[in-house]
Amino acid sequence: MTQEALDVVDSRTGKSYKIPITENSIHAPDLKQIKGCDGGPGLVSYDPAFLNTASCRSTITYIDGDRGILRYRGYPIEQLAEKRSFLEVAYLIMYGELPDAAQLAEWTEGIIRHSMLHENTKKLMEAFHHDAHPMGILVSTVAALSTFYPDAKNVLDPDSRKLQIQRILGKMPTIAAYTYRHHVGLPYVYPDNELTYTGNFLNMMFRMAETKYKPNPVLEQALEVLFVLHADHEQNCSTNTMRCVGSAQADPYLCSAAAAAALYGPLHGGANEQVVRMLREIGSKDHIPEFIQKVKNREALLMGFGHRVYKNYDPRARIIKQTAESVFEVTGKNPLLEIALELERIALEDDFFISRKLYPNIDFYSGIIYQAMGFPVDLFCVLFAVPRTIGWLAQWEELLRDPEQKISRPRQIYLGYDRRDVPD
Ligand code: CMC
Repeated sequence: MTQEALDVVDSRTGKSYKIPITENSIHAPDLKQIKGCDGGPGLVSYDPAFLNTASCRSTITYIDGDRGILRYRGYPIEQLAEKRSFLEVAYLIMYGELPDAAQLAEWTEGIIRHSMLHENTKKLMEAFHHDAHPMGILVSTVAALSTFYPDAKNVLDPDSRKLQIQRILGKMPTIAAYTYRHHVGLPYVYPDNELTYTGNFLNMMFRMAETKYKPNPVLEQALEVLFVLHADHEQNCSTNTMRCVGSAQADPYLCSAAAAAALYGPLHGGANEQVVRMLREIGSKDHIPEFIQKVKNREALLMGFGHRVYKNYDPRARIIKQTAESVFEVTGKNPLLEIALELERIALEDDFFISRKLYPNIDFYSGIIYQAMGFPVDLFCVLFAVPRTIGWLAQWEELLRDPEQKISRPRQIYLGYDRRDVPD
Protein backbone atom coordinates (compact mmCIF):
# COMPACT_ATOMS: atom_id res chain seq x y z
CA MET A 1 0.00 0.00 0.00
CA THR A 2 1.45 3.39 -0.92
CA GLN A 3 1.72 5.74 2.00
CA GLU A 4 -0.10 9.07 1.79
CA ALA A 5 2.42 11.84 1.47
CA LEU A 6 2.83 15.50 0.80
CA ASP A 7 4.94 16.20 -2.30
CA VAL A 8 6.96 19.30 -1.60
CA VAL A 9 9.26 21.20 -3.94
CA ASP A 10 11.65 23.64 -2.33
CA SER A 11 11.67 26.61 -4.72
CA ARG A 12 15.06 27.70 -3.32
CA THR A 13 16.85 24.55 -4.47
CA GLY A 14 14.40 22.89 -6.85
CA LYS A 15 14.67 19.69 -4.78
CA SER A 16 11.59 17.50 -4.18
CA TYR A 17 10.64 15.83 -0.91
CA LYS A 18 7.97 13.38 0.19
CA ILE A 19 6.61 14.17 3.64
CA PRO A 20 4.54 11.23 4.94
CA ILE A 21 1.00 11.97 6.12
CA THR A 22 -0.33 9.92 9.01
CA GLU A 23 -3.57 10.62 10.91
CA ASN A 24 -4.07 13.74 8.80
CA SER A 25 -0.84 15.22 10.09
CA ILE A 26 2.73 15.61 9.06
CA HIS A 27 5.53 14.96 11.49
CA ALA A 28 7.23 18.34 11.96
CA PRO A 29 10.74 16.80 12.36
CA ASP A 30 10.35 15.47 8.77
CA LEU A 31 10.64 19.09 7.62
CA LYS A 32 14.24 19.16 8.86
CA GLN A 33 15.43 17.31 5.76
CA ILE A 34 14.43 20.38 3.69
CA LYS A 35 17.60 22.38 3.76
CA GLY A 36 18.22 25.60 1.87
CA CYS A 37 21.07 26.21 -0.60
CA ASP A 38 23.55 26.68 2.24
CA GLY A 39 22.66 23.25 3.70
CA GLY A 40 21.60 25.02 6.93
CA PRO A 41 19.74 23.47 9.85
CA GLY A 42 16.58 22.59 7.90
CA LEU A 43 13.04 23.91 7.83
CA VAL A 44 11.12 24.49 11.04
CA SER A 45 7.38 25.10 11.36
CA TYR A 46 6.47 28.42 12.98
CA ASP A 47 3.31 28.44 15.12
CA PRO A 48 3.65 30.81 18.10
CA ALA A 49 0.22 30.12 19.64
CA PHE A 50 -0.13 26.48 18.49
CA LEU A 51 -2.83 27.51 16.03
CA ASN A 52 -2.29 24.39 13.94
CA THR A 53 0.14 22.21 15.85
CA ALA A 54 -0.76 18.93 17.56
CA SER A 55 1.53 18.33 20.53
CA CYS A 56 0.37 14.81 21.35
CA ARG A 57 -1.77 11.86 20.40
CA SER A 58 -4.57 11.58 22.91
CA THR A 59 -7.58 9.34 23.54
CA ILE A 60 -9.20 11.42 26.28
CA THR A 61 -11.30 14.28 24.92
CA TYR A 62 -12.69 14.96 21.47
CA ILE A 63 -13.84 18.40 20.33
CA ASP A 64 -15.33 19.28 16.96
CA GLY A 65 -15.34 23.05 17.23
CA ASP A 66 -17.27 23.68 14.01
CA ARG A 67 -20.13 21.42 15.04
CA GLY A 68 -20.04 22.28 18.76
CA ILE A 69 -19.29 18.70 19.86
CA LEU A 70 -17.50 17.70 23.07
CA ARG A 71 -16.96 14.09 24.15
CA TYR A 72 -14.98 12.49 26.96
CA ARG A 73 -13.66 9.06 25.91
CA GLY A 74 -16.32 9.00 23.20
CA TYR A 75 -19.32 9.84 25.38
CA PRO A 76 -21.22 13.06 24.53
CA ILE A 77 -20.90 15.69 27.24
CA GLU A 78 -24.70 16.15 27.30
CA GLN A 79 -25.26 12.50 28.29
CA LEU A 80 -22.50 12.48 30.89
CA ALA A 81 -23.78 15.69 32.49
CA GLU A 82 -27.29 14.27 32.68
CA LYS A 83 -26.57 10.71 33.77
CA ARG A 84 -23.29 10.53 35.67
CA SER A 85 -21.74 11.97 38.80
CA PHE A 86 -18.51 13.93 38.74
CA LEU A 87 -16.50 11.10 40.29
CA GLU A 88 -17.80 8.61 37.71
CA VAL A 89 -16.80 10.99 34.94
CA ALA A 90 -13.44 11.57 36.63
CA TYR A 91 -12.85 7.80 36.60
CA LEU A 92 -13.86 7.67 32.94
CA ILE A 93 -11.46 10.46 32.05
CA MET A 94 -8.62 8.81 33.95
CA TYR A 95 -9.12 5.17 32.94
CA GLY A 96 -11.05 5.33 29.68
CA GLU A 97 -14.19 3.45 30.75
CA LEU A 98 -17.10 4.21 33.05
CA PRO A 99 -16.66 2.45 36.41
CA ASP A 100 -18.80 -0.45 37.59
CA ALA A 101 -20.12 -0.28 41.16
CA ALA A 102 -17.03 -1.89 42.73
CA GLN A 103 -14.60 0.27 40.75
CA LEU A 104 -16.51 3.41 41.67
CA ALA A 105 -16.54 2.47 45.36
CA GLU A 106 -12.77 1.87 45.33
CA TRP A 107 -12.10 5.08 43.38
CA THR A 108 -14.30 7.15 45.70
CA GLU A 109 -12.75 5.63 48.81
CA GLY A 110 -9.24 6.28 47.44
CA ILE A 111 -10.08 9.94 46.89
CA ILE A 112 -12.00 10.78 50.04
CA ARG A 113 -9.38 9.04 52.17
CA HIS A 114 -7.08 11.87 51.14
CA SER A 115 -9.41 14.80 51.65
CA MET A 116 -7.71 16.02 54.86
CA LEU A 117 -4.86 18.50 54.68
CA HIS A 118 -1.78 18.38 56.88
CA GLU A 119 -2.29 20.97 59.64
CA ASN A 120 0.86 22.76 58.49
CA THR A 121 -0.84 23.44 55.18
CA LYS A 122 -3.43 25.44 57.06
CA LYS A 123 -0.68 27.47 58.73
CA LEU A 124 0.82 28.17 55.34
CA MET A 125 -2.53 29.41 54.05
CA GLU A 126 -3.01 31.56 57.15
CA ALA A 127 0.13 33.48 56.22
CA PHE A 128 -1.71 35.02 53.27
CA HIS A 129 -3.31 38.41 53.72
CA HIS A 130 -7.11 38.22 54.15
CA ASP A 131 -7.73 39.80 50.76
CA ALA A 132 -5.25 37.59 48.88
CA HIS A 133 -6.86 36.27 45.71
CA PRO A 134 -8.00 32.67 46.30
CA MET A 135 -6.27 31.49 43.11
CA GLY A 136 -2.95 32.87 44.39
CA ILE A 137 -3.44 30.89 47.60
CA LEU A 138 -4.50 27.76 45.71
CA VAL A 139 -1.53 27.83 43.32
CA SER A 140 0.92 28.29 46.20
CA THR A 141 -0.67 25.63 48.38
CA VAL A 142 -0.79 23.00 45.65
CA ALA A 143 2.88 23.69 44.90
CA ALA A 144 3.69 23.44 48.62
CA LEU A 145 2.16 19.94 48.77
CA SER A 146 5.18 18.81 46.78
CA THR A 147 7.27 19.29 49.94
CA PHE A 148 4.83 17.23 52.03
CA TYR A 149 4.93 14.27 49.66
CA PRO A 150 8.50 13.82 48.40
CA ASP A 151 7.55 10.31 47.19
CA ALA A 152 5.65 12.08 44.40
CA LYS A 153 8.98 12.58 42.64
CA ASN A 154 8.79 8.95 41.48
CA VAL A 155 6.84 9.98 38.44
CA LEU A 156 7.89 6.93 36.44
CA ASP A 157 6.33 4.59 39.01
CA PRO A 158 2.66 3.94 38.08
CA ASP A 159 1.71 3.01 41.67
CA SER A 160 3.15 6.24 43.02
CA ARG A 161 1.32 8.18 40.30
CA LYS A 162 -1.97 6.51 41.25
CA LEU A 163 -1.49 7.47 44.89
CA GLN A 164 -0.64 11.10 44.08
CA ILE A 165 -3.60 11.38 41.69
CA GLN A 166 -5.99 10.27 44.43
CA ARG A 167 -4.29 12.57 46.95
CA ILE A 168 -4.58 15.62 44.71
CA LEU A 169 -8.20 14.90 43.79
CA GLY A 170 -8.99 14.41 47.48
CA LYS A 171 -7.29 17.58 48.65
CA MET A 172 -8.26 20.03 45.90
CA PRO A 173 -11.78 20.78 47.23
CA THR A 174 -10.38 21.17 50.75
CA ILE A 175 -7.77 23.66 49.58
CA ALA A 176 -10.39 25.49 47.52
CA ALA A 177 -12.80 25.77 50.44
CA TYR A 178 -10.03 26.85 52.83
CA THR A 179 -9.05 29.72 50.52
CA TYR A 180 -12.62 30.99 50.92
CA ARG A 181 -12.84 30.46 54.68
CA HIS A 182 -9.52 32.26 55.05
CA HIS A 183 -10.78 35.10 52.88
CA VAL A 184 -13.89 35.66 55.00
CA GLY A 185 -12.21 34.89 58.33
CA LEU A 186 -14.31 31.84 59.19
CA PRO A 187 -12.89 28.72 60.86
CA TYR A 188 -11.88 25.95 58.47
CA VAL A 189 -14.38 23.11 58.16
CA TYR A 190 -12.96 19.58 58.03
CA PRO A 191 -14.16 17.23 55.28
CA ASP A 192 -17.25 15.12 55.87
CA ASN A 193 -16.64 11.90 54.00
CA GLU A 194 -20.25 10.78 54.28
CA LEU A 195 -21.15 13.41 51.71
CA THR A 196 -20.59 13.32 47.95
CA TYR A 197 -17.56 15.05 46.43
CA THR A 198 -19.59 18.17 45.67
CA GLY A 199 -21.76 17.90 48.80
CA ASN A 200 -18.64 17.81 50.92
CA PHE A 201 -17.23 20.78 49.04
CA LEU A 202 -20.39 22.76 49.86
CA ASN A 203 -20.04 21.59 53.46
CA MET A 204 -16.46 22.87 53.72
CA MET A 205 -17.47 26.13 52.09
CA PHE A 206 -20.69 27.01 53.86
CA ARG A 207 -21.13 25.05 57.09
CA MET A 208 -21.64 27.31 60.08
CA ALA A 209 -22.53 26.08 63.59
CA GLU A 210 -24.78 23.16 62.61
CA THR A 211 -23.52 19.72 63.66
CA LYS A 212 -24.25 18.11 60.29
CA TYR A 213 -24.33 20.08 57.06
CA LYS A 214 -27.04 19.04 54.61
CA PRO A 215 -26.35 20.33 51.12
CA ASN A 216 -29.35 21.51 49.13
CA PRO A 217 -29.84 18.62 46.64
CA VAL A 218 -30.60 20.94 43.70
CA LEU A 219 -27.45 23.00 44.27
CA GLU A 220 -25.38 19.86 44.88
CA GLN A 221 -26.64 18.38 41.59
CA ALA A 222 -25.97 21.67 39.77
CA LEU A 223 -22.40 21.62 41.05
CA GLU A 224 -22.03 18.00 39.88
CA VAL A 225 -23.06 19.11 36.38
CA LEU A 226 -20.76 22.14 36.44
CA PHE A 227 -17.87 19.95 37.59
CA VAL A 228 -18.55 17.41 34.81
CA LEU A 229 -18.58 20.22 32.22
CA HIS A 230 -15.25 21.58 33.43
CA ALA A 231 -13.46 18.25 33.86
CA ASP A 232 -11.36 18.25 30.68
CA HIS A 233 -11.03 20.18 27.46
CA GLU A 234 -8.09 18.60 25.60
CA GLN A 235 -5.02 20.73 24.83
CA ASN A 236 -6.00 24.12 26.26
CA CYS A 237 -3.53 26.54 27.84
CA SER A 238 -3.47 25.04 31.36
CA THR A 239 -3.42 21.44 30.11
CA ASN A 240 -0.59 22.27 27.79
CA THR A 241 1.22 23.77 30.80
CA MET A 242 0.57 20.57 32.77
CA ARG A 243 2.06 18.51 29.96
CA CYS A 244 4.97 20.89 29.42
CA VAL A 245 6.02 20.95 33.08
CA GLY A 246 5.25 17.22 33.37
CA SER A 247 7.55 16.50 30.43
CA ALA A 248 10.47 17.66 32.59
CA GLN A 249 9.36 14.94 35.08
CA ALA A 250 8.45 17.47 37.77
CA ASP A 251 6.11 15.97 40.37
CA PRO A 252 2.34 16.26 39.87
CA TYR A 253 1.85 18.87 42.62
CA LEU A 254 4.24 21.23 40.86
CA CYS A 255 2.70 20.42 37.48
CA SER A 256 -0.82 21.03 38.81
CA ALA A 257 0.24 24.30 40.44
CA ALA A 258 1.72 25.45 37.12
CA ALA A 259 -1.45 24.42 35.28
CA ALA A 260 -3.60 26.26 37.83
CA ALA A 261 -1.43 29.36 37.37
CA ALA A 262 -2.12 29.26 33.64
CA LEU A 263 -5.83 28.77 34.30
CA TYR A 264 -5.87 31.90 36.46
CA GLY A 265 -5.29 34.13 33.40
CA PRO A 266 -8.31 36.23 32.35
CA LEU A 267 -8.28 34.80 28.81
CA HIS A 268 -8.60 31.27 30.21
CA GLY A 269 -10.28 30.17 33.47
CA GLY A 270 -10.14 33.66 34.94
CA ALA A 271 -12.75 34.72 32.37
CA ASN A 272 -15.75 33.63 34.49
CA GLU A 273 -14.76 36.20 37.12
CA GLN A 274 -14.27 38.86 34.45
CA VAL A 275 -17.71 38.15 32.96
CA VAL A 276 -19.44 39.06 36.20
CA ARG A 277 -17.29 42.17 36.60
CA MET A 278 -18.14 43.15 33.01
CA LEU A 279 -21.89 42.61 33.56
CA ARG A 280 -21.75 44.69 36.72
CA GLU A 281 -19.93 47.43 34.86
CA ILE A 282 -22.55 47.41 32.09
CA GLY A 283 -25.07 47.76 34.89
CA SER A 284 -28.32 47.70 32.91
CA LYS A 285 -29.72 46.53 29.59
CA ASP A 286 -29.81 50.13 28.28
CA HIS A 287 -26.01 50.31 28.40
CA ILE A 288 -25.44 47.21 26.29
CA PRO A 289 -25.25 48.96 22.87
CA GLU A 290 -22.66 51.36 24.28
CA PHE A 291 -20.62 48.42 25.59
CA ILE A 292 -20.87 46.53 22.28
CA GLN A 293 -19.52 49.62 20.55
CA LYS A 294 -16.55 49.64 22.93
CA VAL A 295 -15.86 46.02 21.99
CA LYS A 296 -16.02 46.86 18.31
CA ASN A 297 -13.66 49.80 18.88
CA ARG A 298 -11.26 47.28 20.48
CA GLU A 299 -11.48 49.07 23.81
CA ALA A 300 -12.86 45.98 25.57
CA LEU A 301 -13.32 42.26 25.09
CA LEU A 302 -16.71 40.66 25.42
CA MET A 303 -15.64 38.32 28.20
CA GLY A 304 -17.13 34.83 28.04
CA PHE A 305 -17.30 35.00 24.25
CA GLY A 306 -15.02 33.41 21.69
CA HIS A 307 -12.94 30.28 21.75
CA ARG A 308 -9.89 28.99 19.95
CA VAL A 309 -11.61 25.75 18.98
CA TYR A 310 -15.38 26.39 19.07
CA LYS A 311 -16.56 28.32 16.07
CA ASN A 312 -20.11 27.43 17.04
CA TYR A 313 -22.05 27.49 20.31
CA ASP A 314 -19.95 25.95 23.11
CA PRO A 315 -22.01 22.84 24.05
CA ARG A 316 -21.09 23.40 27.70
CA ALA A 317 -22.66 26.88 27.62
CA ARG A 318 -25.92 25.33 26.38
CA ILE A 319 -26.03 22.85 29.28
CA ILE A 320 -25.10 25.55 31.78
CA LYS A 321 -28.08 27.64 30.69
CA GLN A 322 -30.40 24.75 31.59
CA THR A 323 -28.62 24.23 34.93
CA ALA A 324 -29.06 27.93 35.67
CA GLU A 325 -32.83 27.54 35.57
CA SER A 326 -32.86 24.84 38.27
CA VAL A 327 -30.46 26.84 40.45
CA PHE A 328 -32.48 30.05 40.16
CA GLU A 329 -35.61 28.20 41.26
CA VAL A 330 -33.87 27.67 44.59
CA THR A 331 -31.82 30.82 44.92
CA GLY A 332 -33.94 33.34 43.05
CA LYS A 333 -32.80 34.93 39.81
CA ASN A 334 -29.42 36.60 39.60
CA PRO A 335 -30.21 40.15 38.40
CA LEU A 336 -27.17 39.94 36.10
CA LEU A 337 -28.88 37.17 34.11
CA GLU A 338 -31.15 39.58 32.27
CA ILE A 339 -28.20 41.68 31.16
CA ALA A 340 -26.31 38.54 30.09
CA LEU A 341 -29.23 37.18 28.04
CA GLU A 342 -29.75 40.51 26.31
CA LEU A 343 -26.01 40.92 25.70
CA GLU A 344 -25.92 37.46 24.13
CA ARG A 345 -28.97 38.20 21.99
CA ILE A 346 -27.53 41.46 20.66
CA ALA A 347 -24.05 40.01 20.09
CA LEU A 348 -25.37 37.00 18.20
CA GLU A 349 -27.20 39.32 15.78
CA ASP A 350 -24.23 41.62 15.23
CA ASP A 351 -21.99 41.14 12.23
CA PHE A 352 -18.82 41.80 14.26
CA PHE A 353 -19.47 38.62 16.27
CA ILE A 354 -21.13 36.63 13.47
CA SER A 355 -18.27 37.16 11.02
CA ARG A 356 -15.69 36.13 13.63
CA LYS A 357 -17.80 33.17 14.78
CA LEU A 358 -17.82 34.42 18.36
CA TYR A 359 -20.31 32.57 20.55
CA PRO A 360 -20.76 32.32 24.34
CA ASN A 361 -18.28 29.93 25.92
CA ILE A 362 -18.59 28.03 29.20
CA ASP A 363 -17.56 31.07 31.23
CA PHE A 364 -20.35 33.33 30.03
CA TYR A 365 -23.00 31.79 32.30
CA SER A 366 -21.01 29.80 34.90
CA GLY A 367 -20.19 32.86 37.02
CA ILE A 368 -23.82 33.96 37.15
CA ILE A 369 -24.78 30.56 38.57
CA TYR A 370 -21.90 30.46 41.02
CA GLN A 371 -22.80 33.90 42.28
CA ALA A 372 -26.45 32.89 42.81
CA MET A 373 -25.23 29.85 44.76
CA GLY A 374 -23.38 32.13 47.16
CA PHE A 375 -19.82 31.78 45.86
CA PRO A 376 -17.90 35.06 45.86
CA VAL A 377 -16.66 36.32 42.51
CA ASP A 378 -13.01 35.90 43.53
CA LEU A 379 -13.61 32.19 43.90
CA PHE A 380 -14.90 31.45 40.41
CA CYS A 381 -11.57 30.43 38.91
CA VAL A 382 -10.98 28.14 41.91
CA LEU A 383 -14.31 26.50 41.04
CA PHE A 384 -12.90 25.85 37.59
CA ALA A 385 -9.58 24.52 38.92
CA VAL A 386 -11.13 21.90 41.24
CA PRO A 387 -12.88 19.85 38.53
CA ARG A 388 -10.24 20.57 35.86
CA THR A 389 -7.65 18.85 38.05
CA ILE A 390 -8.84 15.43 36.83
CA GLY A 391 -8.29 16.54 33.23
CA TRP A 392 -4.79 17.78 34.03
CA LEU A 393 -3.93 14.55 35.84
CA ALA A 394 -5.31 12.27 33.13
CA GLN A 395 -3.35 14.17 30.49
CA TRP A 396 -0.24 13.97 32.68
CA GLU A 397 -0.73 10.20 33.07
CA GLU A 398 -1.17 9.84 29.31
CA LEU A 399 1.98 11.88 28.71
CA LEU A 400 4.08 9.71 31.01
CA ARG A 401 2.80 6.53 29.36
CA ASP A 402 3.48 7.82 25.85
CA PRO A 403 6.79 6.53 24.44
CA GLU A 404 6.78 9.30 21.81
CA GLN A 405 6.91 12.07 24.41
CA LYS A 406 10.14 13.77 25.44
CA ILE A 407 10.91 16.96 27.33
CA SER A 408 8.92 19.80 25.77
CA ARG A 409 11.26 22.14 24.01
CA PRO A 410 10.08 24.31 21.10
CA ARG A 411 12.40 25.86 18.57
CA GLN A 412 12.66 29.59 17.84
CA ILE A 413 13.37 31.81 14.88
CA TYR A 414 16.29 33.91 16.01
CA LEU A 415 16.05 37.50 14.78
CA GLY A 416 18.63 39.12 17.06
CA TYR A 417 22.13 40.37 16.32
CA ASP A 418 24.68 38.24 14.53
CA ARG A 419 27.98 37.78 16.38
CA ARG A 420 29.50 41.07 17.50
CA ASP A 421 32.38 41.98 19.80
CA VAL A 422 32.05 43.76 23.13
CA PRO A 423 33.68 47.21 22.65
CA ASP A 424 36.94 47.79 24.56
N1 CMC B 1 -14.47 39.94 22.35
C1 CMC B 1 -14.22 40.67 21.25
N2 CMC B 1 -13.50 40.24 20.20
C2 CMC B 1 -13.03 39.00 20.26
C3 CMC B 1 -13.24 38.17 21.38
C4 CMC B 1 -14.00 38.68 22.44
N3 CMC B 1 -14.27 37.93 23.52
N4 CMC B 1 -12.64 37.00 21.17
C5 CMC B 1 -12.05 37.06 19.98
N5 CMC B 1 -12.28 38.28 19.41
C6 CMC B 1 -11.88 38.74 18.09
C7 CMC B 1 -10.38 39.00 18.04
O1 CMC B 1 -10.10 40.34 18.34
C8 CMC B 1 -10.08 38.64 16.61
O2 CMC B 1 -10.52 39.70 15.78
P1 CMC B 1 -9.67 40.12 14.46
O3 CMC B 1 -9.59 38.87 13.62
O4 CMC B 1 -10.44 41.23 13.84
O5 CMC B 1 -8.33 40.55 14.99
C9 CMC B 1 -11.00 37.47 16.31
O6 CMC B 1 -12.10 37.62 17.21
C10 CMC B 1 -10.35 36.12 16.52
O7 CMC B 1 -9.94 36.04 17.87
P2 CMC B 1 -8.53 35.51 18.35
O8 CMC B 1 -8.02 36.42 19.42
O9 CMC B 1 -7.63 35.25 17.18
O10 CMC B 1 -8.95 34.13 18.96
P3 CMC B 1 -8.06 33.21 19.88
O11 CMC B 1 -8.39 31.82 19.52
O12 CMC B 1 -6.62 33.58 19.84
O13 CMC B 1 -8.59 33.55 21.37
C11 CMC B 1 -9.93 33.55 23.32
C12 CMC B 1 -9.55 32.79 22.03
C13 CMC B 1 -10.84 32.66 24.14
C14 CMC B 1 -8.66 33.84 24.14
C15 CMC B 1 -10.64 34.87 22.94
O14 CMC B 1 -11.82 34.58 22.22
C16 CMC B 1 -10.96 35.74 24.15
O15 CMC B 1 -10.11 36.51 24.58
N6 CMC B 1 -12.19 35.61 24.72
C17 CMC B 1 -12.54 36.33 25.95
C18 CMC B 1 -11.98 35.60 27.15
C19 CMC B 1 -12.74 34.33 27.46
O16 CMC B 1 -13.97 34.30 27.48
N7 CMC B 1 -11.99 33.25 27.73
C20 CMC B 1 -12.58 31.97 28.12
C21 CMC B 1 -12.37 30.92 27.10
S1 CMC B 1 -13.37 29.45 27.43
C22 CMC B 1 -12.74 28.80 28.91
C23 CMC B 1 -11.39 28.21 28.71
O17 CMC B 1 -11.30 27.05 28.30
O18 CMC B 1 -10.42 28.91 28.96
